[in-house]
Amino acid sequence: MDMQRITISEAARHQGESIEIAGWLYNLRKSGKIVFPIVRDGTGLMQCVAVKSQLPEDVFETLKNLTQESSLIVRGKVRAEARAAGGFEMDVEGVEIVQRVPESDPYPITPKEHGVEFLMDRRHLWLRSQRQHAIIRVRHEIIKAVRDYFDSHGFTLVDTPIFTPAACEGTTTLFEVNYFDDDKAYLTQSGQLYNEATAMAFGKVYTFGPTFRAEKSKTRRHLTEFWMVEPEMAYATLEDVKRVAEEMILFVVGRVLENRQPELKTLERDVSKLEAVSAPFPRLSYDEAVKILQAHGSEIQWGGDFGGADETILTQQFDRPIMVDRYPSAIKAFYMQPDPERPEVALGVDVLAPEGYGEIIGGGERVNDAALLIRRIEEHGLPPAAFDWYLDLRKFGSVPHGGFGMGIERCVAWICGLEHVRETIAFPRMLYRLRP
Ligand code: 4AD
Ligand code: MG
Repeated sequence: MDMQRITISEAARHQGESIEIAGWLYNLRKSGKIVFPIVRDGTGLMQCVAVKSQLPEDVFETLKNLTQESSLIVRGKVRAEARAAGGFEMDVEGVEIVQRVPESDPYPITPKEHGVEFLMDRRHLWLRSQRQHAIIRVRHEIIKAVRDYFDSHGFTLVDTPIFTPAACEGTTTLFEVNYFDDDKAYLTQSGQLYNEATAMAFGKVYTFGPTFRAEKSKTRRHLTEFWMVEPEMAYATLEDVKRVAEEMILFVVGRVLENRQPELKTLERDVSKLEAVSAPFPRLSYDEAVKILQAHGSEIQWGGDFGGADETILTQQFDRPIMVDRYPSAIKAFYMQPDPERPEVALGVDVLAPEGYGEIIGGGERVNDAALLIRRIEEHGLPPAAFDWYLDLRKFGSVPHGGFGMGIERCVAWICGLEHVRETIAFPRMLYRLRP
């Protein structure tokens, strides 16, 4: 008789039934005439109970000597068991080994402690661990929430190109690729410039995709390839940008708290810190932030950019994300609109996540005057010819507009409470890591 195959996550609906699950051996405990194989199938863990006296000799022996991460199909009856990991246990009636991992070349990741580099080299296997599994599921939830937020607030999704002819976020972090006959292309640093074009066509848009920065920095916040969500709105001011950023973050954190409690528990995340995230987020100016930093012993002077350590100090003063606006124009990108009352500062905002995490969002209002934009492009040493289409947006119905970009990995690191962004993406790309 064919047994019904279920996933471990469906166990609750099959109590008392004999079913089969297909997965991998996560762990095996032995206690005399009983063995307890723990099977994982990607949806959860199932503790199985195999009793020697109730099984054919060979089946019991096979299970008893099974090696970690061997693939198998287990058949048996599901029973509620409060003490078991997923709340259920399975009394084994039969087993089929799909592939047995040989003792001579065992699965390299064992319950003992391993160094990060060892694990990173085996990232393709490390993803099977409970902790990594939980992080990727929270990431999925965050991405889905971000999309749901924009989809339900009148934004149209418009994908922007990966190959681009010029820089968006400074020329020092460009990845260059050959693009046919003597032409050069760069991997996109941000979809923003194209979003500005599509915002003039659709009003409110967002793009969500991979972005690239040749960051030569080895920090816990930098990847060379990361995913960014970027909304852009026509007829929007800096205050509109802040409001949308705040609403979106609240929506995302709420969703994770609602749907990913088991994962947060696996990660030992202090959820009270996430529950504290509520509106309004404190809003302060760059000037005020500099004063706070100086009062806490930072060397920063007006005009300087915040280092990672500065952001850590700053965010530790608050229990929720903060919004810092009006940074000096000189340290910001060419497209930032100057404050008409104080042209030396830009109408830009960074959102810094609490608990020392720092910047997760950068955005603001864009220059909408053609002459000023041309000057800025020249001052930043950018090739004007590559921006002719961008300047058209200031010629044909230019309007105040703005948006922001949120780095998904930094957001995941914060919400999961992780030390480093490298664990927030399945296969991280960093200065010294291109494999696996
Ligand atoms: O502040 P950034 O450079 O802003 C932009 O790219 C704008 N064009 C976005 C916009 O207004 N549409 O980057 C935005 C966010 C940062 O706040 C950070 O979360 C993330 O992208 N980010 C990185 N994440 C990981 N590794 C890196 N190297 C990152 N660089 C930026
Ligand atoms: Mg930034």
